[in-house]
Amino acid sequence: MMTVEQIKEKLSNISYPGFTKSIVDFGFVKDIAVDGNKVAVYVEITSSAEEVEKELRESITKELKMLGASDLNIAISKPQAPKQMSNSMTGNNMTPQVKNFVMVSSGKGGVGKSTTSVNLAIALAMQGKKVGLLDADIYGPNIPRMMGLEHNEPEIVGNKIMPYKAYGVEVMSMGSLVEEGKALVWRGAMIQKAIQQLLRDILWSELDVLVIDMPPGTGDAQLTLAQSVPVAAGINVTTPQHVALDDSRRSLEMFSKLHIPIAGIIENMSGFVCPKCGEESDIFGKGTCDDLAREYNTKVLANIPIEPSIRVGGDDGKPIVYFYPDSKTGKKYLQAAQQLWEQIEKANANGEIGNSEIQPNLPAGVSACSAEGQAYQKEQAAKKEAEKASKSGCCGGGHCDS
Ligand SMILES: Nc1ncnc2c1ncn2[C@@H]1O[C@H](COP(=O)(O)OP(=O)(O)O)[C@@H](O)[C@H]1O
Ligand SMILES: [Mg+2]
Repeated sequence: MMTVEQIKEKLSNISYPGFTKSIVDFGFVKDIAVDGNKVAVYVEITSSAEEVEKELRESITKELKMLGASDLNIAISKPQAPKQMSNSMTGNNMTPQVKNFVMVSSGKGGVGKSTTSVNLAIALAMQGKKVGLLDADIYGPNIPRMMGLEHNEPEIVGNKIMPYKAYGVEVMSMGSLVEEGKALVWRGAMIQKAIQQLLRDILWSELDVLVIDMPPGTGDAQLTLAQSVPVAAGINVTTPQHVALDDSRRSLEMFSKLHIPIAGIIENMSGFVCPKCGEESDIFGKGTCDDLAREYNTKVLANIPIEPSIRVGGDDGKPIVYFYPDSKTGKKYLQAAQQLWEQIEKANANGEIGNSEIQPNLPAGVSACSAEGQAYQKEQAAKKEAEKASKSGCCGGGHCDS
C-alpha cells in the first residue's frame, strides 16, 4: 500500500529540467492522491515549453511505476506560451489544465441546453479533441442520465473527484455530488462556492475544451464561472418562438457584459420532422434566430428540428450524434462543433479571451475594511485612471474630462 509520503519521496528524486533542485523542493507538486494502485499527481510548473512537460511526465511515470503505481493520472499545468500572454488572455483560471472553456446558456429551462451540451461535447471528441463536460446546472442536473451514467457513484481520490468517462468525454455533474433537490434553495455565496468547487476539485485531465452546461438564466453561477476561468466561447440555446427569443437576448447581453466571445446560437426545436412521412412542419416557428444572431454579430450554428430520436436518446443515455452521426441531425451537431472550434481558435488568435476586467474588486479573503483591502482598492482605482488616460491620449493630469 503506497502512501502520499512515499510518493513525495520518489518525486523528490526528480530534478526540474535544467536545475538541480527537485520538483518537490521547488514546491511544484501541488497535490498527490492515492487509492490502492491508483495515483494522481498534480504539478504546476513555470515553463511553458513542451519538452519540459514531456520530460517531467516521463520521469514521474518511471519513479511511480517503480513504487508499484499501475494507474497513473498526471496533470501538469504550465503557463500559457508567451505569444498568448502578450494579448488579453489574462486574469484568473482556477482550472489551469483546461485550455478552453465553453459556456452553454439559455434564457430558460427546457429549451434543450443539456441536449446541446451533450451532443456538442461528444461531437468535439469525435473530431479528435480532448473534451470534458461539466454539468453545472445546480438546479436541474440531468447530464448523467443523458450520458448513460445515471447510477454511477463518483470516485474520490484523496480530496479530489475523478470524472466519469462516456463516449470519449470526461464527465462530472453537480447531480452526482449533491443530494437531489438540495441545491434548489442555494443563493449567492453558496452558488459561488459550489461552482468554484466544481472547477477546483475535479481531476480533469489536460483538456482542449471543457463544455459547461449552466443553469438557465443569468445569475450568480454565470458570473462566478466567468470570474473563475477565462471563458473562450459562449453558446446560447433557444427555441424559435419570439417569447423565448426575449430571454435569449438577455443571455447574449450577459456574454457581452462578461467579456465572453459569442460563438453562436443553437436554434433548437426548429421545425418538426414527422418520423412516419418525413414531412416537416413548423411548430414553434423556424429561422427566427437569424435576426437575433445578426444583432449580436454572431451566427446560428445549427437549426435542430424536434425529433423523437433526440428525446429518446436523451432519456436512454444514447446521444444522437454518437449513435447516428450520419443522420441529418447528427451531421448538424458535428458541423456546429466544427464551427464552435473555429470560433475558439479565432478568439484565441485575436486575444479576445480573458477575465481580468470582470474580477471582483477585492482578492479572495481580503476584507474591504482592512488596511490591505483599502490600499488594494486605491491601487486599482489609480490603475484604471492611468489606463483611461493612456487610451484617451490625455496626459492623466486631471485637467480634462475625456
Ligand atoms: N430537438 C429536440 N427534439 C426532441 N426532443 C428534444 C429536443 N431537444 C431537447 N429535447 C428534449 O426536451 C427535453 C428538455 O431538453 P433539455 O436538454 O433537458 O433542456 P434544458 O437543459 O434546456 O432544460 C428533454 O427531454 C430532451 O430530450
Ligand atoms: Mg438541462
